[in-house]
Amino acid sequence: MRPAALLLLCPLAAALSGRFWHITDLHWDPDYDPAAGAGQVCPSGGSRAVPAAGRWGSYLCDAPWSLLASAVRAMRSLLQRPDFVLWTGDDTPHVPNEKLGEEKVLHMIENLTSLIREAFPDTKVYAAMGNHDFHPKNQFPGKEHRIYNQTAELWHPWLNNASIPLFRAGAFYSEKLPGSKTRGRVVVLNTNLYYDQNNETAGEEDPAGQFQWLEETLTNASRADEMVYIVGHVPPGFFEKKRGKAWFRSGFNERYLQMVQKHHGVIAAQFFGHHHTDTFRMFYNDTGSPINVMFLAPGVTPWKTTLPGVDNGANNPGIRVIDYDPDTLQVLDMVTYYLNLTHANMMEEELPVWEEEYRLTEAFQVPDGSARSMQTVLERISQDPRSLQQYYEFNSVSYDLAPCEVSCRVDHVCAIREVDFTRYEECVRTSSSASALVNVWLFFSCLLLGLVSPQQALQ
Ligand SMILES: *[C@@H]1O[C@H](CO)[C@@H](O)[C@H](O)[C@H]1NC(C)=O
Ligand SMILES: *[C@@H]1O[C@H](CO)[C@@H](O)[C@H](O)[C@H]1NC(C)=O
Ligand SMILES: *[C@@H]1O[C@H](CO)[C@@H](O)[C@H](O)[C@H]1NC(C)=O
Ligand SMILES: *[C@@H]1O[C@H](CO)[C@@H](O)[C@H](O)[C@H]1NC(C)=O
Ligand SMILES: *[C@@H]1O[C@H](CO)[C@@H](O)[C@H](O)[C@H]1NC(C)=O
Ligand SMILES: *[C@@H]1O[C@H](CO)[C@@H](O)[C@H](O)[C@H]1NC(C)=O
Ligand SMILES: *[C@@H]1O[C@H](CO)[C@@H](O)[C@H](O)[C@H]1NC(C)=O
Ligand SMILES: [Zn+2]
Ligand SMILES: [Zn+2]
Repeated sequence: MRPAALLLLCPLAAALSGRFWHITDLHWDPDYDPAAGAGQVCPSGGSRAVPAAGRWGSYLCDAPWSLLASAVRAMRSLLQRPDFVLWTGDDTPHVPNEKLGEEKVLHMIENLTSLIREAFPDTKVYAAMGNHDFHPKNQFPGKEHRIYNQTAELWHPWLNNASIPLFRAGAFYSEKLPGSKTRGRVVVLNTNLYYDQNNETAGEEDPAGQFQWLEETLTNASRADEMVYIVGHVPPGFFEKKRGKAWFRSGFNERYLQMVQKHHGVIAAQFFGHHHTDTFRMFYNDTGSPINVMFLAPGVTPWKTTLPGVDNGANNPGIRVIDYDPDTLQVLDMVTYYLNLTHANMMEEELPVWEEEYRLTEAFQVPDGSARSMQTVLERISQDPRSLQQYYEFNSVSYDLAPCEVSCRVDHVCAIREVDFTRYEECVRTSSSASALVNVWLFFSCLLLGLVSPQQALQ
């Protein structure tokens, strides 16, 4: 091909791909103080002793301002002009309600909103509320509330006029992506309404009428030949780091899943947070074909979870760029950047460097981030120990590099594969008995070969 012909093609190629940021779970701890004595470094550390806290943060604490400012600085230098930003919530520290209050929570949302707005003054930001962006935390009502009003006010510059009354009434909204070369639409949900810790909506069938609204929104999108990203904070399904730990109440989980199955044709992908880990969820149709994928982005806070039963649940701070097709919203690729917090704290005088952790298509050898490709990734993770280990290290943003063995594999694979409560239990049961069976088989083979003694069988 002659260079002139190439030149003609280049703008076309550029037009076929766009990029956006996804950031989540900033969890600012305004009282983080590395100079304070042991036990007083950060209120978010709770009763845990926090040794040798560094300037950029500690794995036992939520994020100091320096870390958040550094994350946003890194975003600007890595990709200054994204098409838009997804920001999926959780701005306040993990401290008891008594240490917060409505004013403090709103002030933190305001401050982080300014941080992002100053870094990306002309960029559309689709912001979702996290379960920590309310007071008392998790207690989101399915009707209008002062905090929804105030948050709508803070996010006014990012919201279309038509979104504001919706936001005031339930903190969800939907907008067409800006630009003429796109059929895209973003639907931001308030899935805090479905969280099992939320007493305000317990027993309600459709809090704030959000399911009904989502149904109509997706039906309308389909009629208008649009494609949709669904964006939210608390995801359906299970936490991959704690067996059997789900977030949604059971009926809400079921209804969400049915919604995706019914409308998967217009849903290009789903983007959520809340886990602070890097993972994904598969959705299938009734005959088991992969029909959709949800990407969970890692948190910016490195905070080690206090959830009982989770072992070493901290992470390095992570941020993510998604490459997508602006017309179809197909996810083309995903690059996760991270800060090695241990390393950053050792380089006292220097500004920390956020590095590329991995690129989806390279790390897992798939053509894109479609549901079909992510099914391939899942199959690799479940069958090939090297892929499993790679996924596992990315899961904590290269913080926990310990080997992921049998029970770890079951936890992760079942959580990725099964969003449905019953099918997840089934997956855990059959995978565990399958691996138990392998162990029994190995043991008797060894016994026959005389490699173990019958005494060892009794221990
Ligand atoms: C947010 O808080 C930080 C740290 O306290 C402060 O430096 C910054 O000026 C605040 N920004 C706004 C807009 O309130
Ligand atoms: C929210 O704002 C609207 C419009 O200003 C107002 O009518 C409504 O009373 C407010 N609701 C609450 C709970 O503050
Ligand atoms: C949005 O509302 C504001 C004030 O209510 C008004 O000035 C503006 O023209 C409206 N914008 C659009 C695009 O309708
Ligand atoms: C929610 O309800 C449960 C069960 O009634 C109760 O134990 C818990 O304290 C309540 N939580 C809040 C934040 O009100
Ligand atoms: C769906 O479209 C109908 C007809 O245009 C409209 O009346 C309705 O408000 C739309 N629903 C939503 C949730 O956007
Ligand atoms: C599931 O998806 C596959 C592939 O698109 C399709 O062939 C099959 O008919 C679908 N099954 C159902 C029940 O829709
Ligand atoms: C992070 O930095 C520490 C200290 O330099 C180093 O030991 C560790 O291997 C690094 N982690 C990764 C994933 O590179
Ligand atoms: Zn969080
Ligand atoms: Zn959360």
